[in-house]
Amino acid sequence: MTFACLGLVVTLPICYKEHSFLSWACFVAKTKRVYQCTACGSEQSKWAGQCPDCKAWNTIEEFRLPAGNATRFGNYSGAGEQSVTRLSAVEGEALQRQATGISELDRVLGGGLVPGSVVLIGGDPGIGKSTLILQAVARMTEQYDCLYVTGEESLQQIGLRARRLELVTDRLDCLTETCVERVLSTIARNRPGLVVIDSIQTLYSAEIQSAPGSVSQVRESAAALVRYAKENRCTMIIVGHVTKEGALAGPRVLEHMVDAVLYFESDSGSRYRIVRSFKNRFGTVNEIGVFAMTGTGLKQVSNPSAIFLSGRDEPAAGSIVTVTREGTRPLLLELQALVDDSHLANPRRVALGLEHNRLAMLLAVLHRHGGVSLAGQDVFVNIVGGLRIAETGTDLPVLLAILSSFRDRPLPHHVLAFGEVGLSGEIRPVFNGEERLREAAGHGFTRAIVPAANAPRRTLEKLQVIKVNTLPEALEAAFQ
Ligand code: TYD
Ligand code: MG
Repeated sequence: MTFACLGLVVTLPICYKEHSFLSWACFVAKTKRVYQCTACGSEQSKWAGQCPDCKAWNTIEEFRLPAGNATRFGNYSGAGEQSVTRLSAVEGEALQRQATGISELDRVLGGGLVPGSVVLIGGDPGIGKSTLILQAVARMTEQYDCLYVTGEESLQQIGLRARRLELVTDRLDCLTETCVERVLSTIARNRPGLVVIDSIQTLYSAEIQSAPGSVSQVRESAAALVRYAKENRCTMIIVGHVTKEGALAGPRVLEHMVDAVLYFESDSGSRYRIVRSFKNRFGTVNEIGVFAMTGTGLKQVSNPSAIFLSGRDEPAAGSIVTVTREGTRPLLLELQALVDDSHLANPRRVALGLEHNRLAMLLAVLHRHGGVSLAGQDVFVNIVGGLRIAETGTDLPVLLAILSSFRDRPLPHHVLAFGEVGLSGEIRPVFNGEERLREAAGHGFTRAIVPAANAPRRTLEKLQVIKVNTLPEALEAAFQ
């Protein structure tokens, strides 16, 4: 009896609270007001000074929806019924890809553009998005009707750039327009096979009141474009800028809407540009295409393996070469570490191109299983060339580079290493080990320190493979 009473006392306020919340939500729905964060795009039920999702301050704004829309996603109450289709009855046609004529770009796309797909290309301002797309589209006009929609540059600017890049543009249509409805009606009239939108941040929809570039404008404009592309099998390339924090301005929601997301990566000051696929519904992800920015546009680098090495002849302390696998090809690159006495209470751990938490973990493994403590030292690790590596094969070379810098002992020339380091100090194999070793041998490396399970079945000419099972074994092999 006492429990029942207690239960009633507890449930009543909850019911009351839920009821009041429901009636309040109905009120919001009727008045069609939405509170949205302009930084991350999340929707909130009420205004707040700080966004509960991304923690940004003063970014929540009130939006009023156009009349007739009960929610931001449309009013479904009066929607008609649709017939469903058995999947086995759907005719699968062979995927015919539209080659862009730039093989490095085709590689990242998984073999070319899929008709009716929407590709988002992101990157910092000035990195070369417009240049690359203009070069690709100009080549594609030989086979397809293409329309280049620009909201950023004038037609004269694009014309000048095309002339500088020595492109054939007599079949390329251009349009300067920023209203998405007018863009779509022009596309519907001309019916091109490929449309480029440069850039999505400049587009606005007349149905939404917020400013161009705001989250809701970017989202609605992209949604309208994607809808059109899917319904009419029109291929689209959408260019998007990146915010200072590194996220596609407006929204991660864009990434969910499109079929493929490509990102430009580069070291500031480097002339190399890496285009990486982060999402691809029609190909592998993490595939990279490498380009060099020249006076006449972006030139592809078909064999990029050696460009990420610093090219120094003398071995230097804190530097080591490793082989990673980016997408479907192995890539040689150089890792550098600097270990220095720290004057801070919390010594610095900086990882450029690598995951920060992984560096902290590796330092703990080095202490526990390698017997080397870097407690009073600042540790900096960098990947030459501005590449970002997410795979675990760089664990062992990172530790060797750190130790080389700490002891001020250069690793011998023509030595490379790869392998994952486990928490108990074991060296674990990585995938495609043999292919990596063959690539290294092809570039003149003579010694490789690798996980035992990655040793090739047949010995490689000129490359001595040193198999290691634990971290102490690896340290001994490197610094014997
Ligand atoms: P752009 O494609 O306009 O960048 P985005 O569209 O990503 O903002 O690239 C502009 C930069 O590229 C600019 O800094 C100049 C450089 N560039 C060259 O070095 N060579 C060239 O042939 C071209 C067209 C641009
Ligand atoms: Mg541009």
